[in-house]
Amino acid sequence: MINNFLNIILSFCFFIIIITLMSCTKKYIEYTETSNTSVSLKNNIQPIFDNSCINCHNQQANTFNLKTGYSYKSLLDNNLINIDKPSNSVLLIKINNNHPFEGAVNIYEYGLIKKWIEEGAKDN
Ligand code: HEC
Repeated sequence: MINNFLNIILSFCFFIIIITLMSCTKKYIEYTETSNTSVSLKNNIQPIFDNSCINCHNQQANTFNLKTGYSYKSLLDNNLINIDKPSNSVLLIKINNNHPFEGAVNIYEYGLIKKWIEEGAKDN
């Protein structure tokens, strides 16, 4: 009887762990070569937002919207980009500060976003 009960509890824990692990898997992003070309919001930056940010930053949430078609205006309207001093951009400071905690951008993605701002943060 006790054994049966333990078995059920253990199976349940196992199940929760598997679900948690599955939900952490990120989609693979195919990065486009950008060393000689300018960084494109549409091709380089938006996929990062789609993969790491829009779960929380969307039209339902009480924050700004990073979904396709809204991200550019949202970033500007909320003063999250500083074109004169790119490294002072709230966007960069925030994501450099381990945000979001569970799934922060990697150094390559951070570099792309920084380069995009340095190039004038165009809606390209
Ligand atoms: C798990 C949910 C979640 C994810 C995923 C997430 N954010 Fe956030 N973000 C928040 C919340 C909640 C706030 C407001 C509270 C705070 O500042 O921490 C916030 C605040 C911010 C701010 C500061 C806004 C301001 O006006 O100060 C920026 C910039 C930001 N997020 C960018 C991003 C970017 C870029 C991504 C993707 C790389 C991302 N966030 C992913 C939940 C999230």
